[in-house]
Amino acid sequence: MATAIIGIGNLGGTVARELASGGEPVILSASSQAKARKAAAAIGIPGSAALNNRDAVQRADNVVLALWLDPMREVIDEVADLLPGKVVVDPSNPIRVAADGTFTRTLPEGQSSGELVASLLPQGTRFVKAFGSVAATMLASNSRRTPKRAVLFYATDDAKAATEVERLIRVAGFDPVPAGGVAKSVRVEIGGDGAAGLPYPPNTFDLITCTNALHDMADPLALLSGLGRLLAPGGQLVVEDFARRRPAWLWAVFERLMQWIEGGHGRAYTLTEARALCVGAGLHIVCEKVFTIDWFWHGWALRAADPYPEQIGS
Ligand SMILES: NC(=O)c1ccc[n+]([C@@H]2O[C@H](COP(=O)([O-])OP(=O)(O)OC[C@H]3O[C@@H](n4cnc5c(N)ncnc54)[C@H](OP(=O)(O)O)[C@@H]3O)[C@@H](O)[C@H]2O)c1
Repeated sequence: MATAIIGIGNLGGTVARELASGGEPVILSASSQAKARKAAAAIGIPGSAALNNRDAVQRADNVVLALWLDPMREVIDEVADLLPGKVVVDPSNPIRVAADGTFTRTLPEGQSSGELVASLLPQGTRFVKAFGSVAATMLASNSRRTPKRAVLFYATDDAKAATEVERLIRVAGFDPVPAGGVAKSVRVEIGGDGAAGLPYPPNTFDLITCTNALHDMADPLALLSGLGRLLAPGGQLVVEDFARRRPAWLWAVFERLMQWIEGGHGRAYTLTEARALCVGAGLHIVCEKVFTIDWFWHGWALRAADPYPEQIGS
């Protein structure tokens, strides 16, 4: 088994390094052979440079397309006839990164680059979305983590591609976790719509706190679901807010006043409602508490855990 990596930039270079240090035979292909040779020497695997993209694909069983979406289309056209039967790994994200590190989406909201790339491939290609859910720097610093390995998610509809990518993820120093089929690719992409509108990849934080904010969210279910996806396995989300009180008519007047003054959504929840929102967002409740601040203000707090990995693809 050999794995070709096309595009030896930040991500391709990191994947190549981690696979090679795990013992995988890798073949590197860049926009020129000179660049591929230079990258191979820098990574410490001289002799692994291909003549060109076609040579790399011909010599490999698996192909990682570590490219931005525009060159991705050109490269797929260039090697299309060689791809049927091979496992193609797509780490691309539908984003453009500005000099200050902020990014904007390059595809319409809800469309994943995984689905787009899969649609460009010839029939018979074994497609899998993987290695793109975290920044290259995080990939490098978390590989072969001890005592517990970090996980990497993947999405595929192809059983052989799943087996092969699981092997590659392990070789690169991570534990593989399936996130569902290609239609769920958006969940494992940076800039996907599953991150509560926040600029972080899934599976990033051990602890997220959301205090005195839920009442101002127009779509609390989407927010909680997005925050859940940002939690690393075993991570926890703490949510706290003031509670809705009775009588209902008096509280409705208060909320109208709050919406007028703050200009926000202004809709407070009881603990029961907050719990239901969390459960609806795929989180499970670890503990919860109501508390009294004074005669008017009552509050609640709860701690919820990340979705179980097997639920992510459901
Ligand atoms: N960087 C990250 O942290 C990260 C994390 C997750 C996912 N990703 C995804 O990985 C992909 C690549 O990102 P990157 O940051 O690695 O970009 P990058 O550093 O710009 O690397 C892209 C590489 O593609 C090469 N390339 C362009 N056209 C080519 C062609 N026709 N044949 C062979 N190679 C070609 C470029 O070579 P030249 O410079 O010679 O043109 C460059 O080395 C993107 O889709 C991105 O969303 C990146």
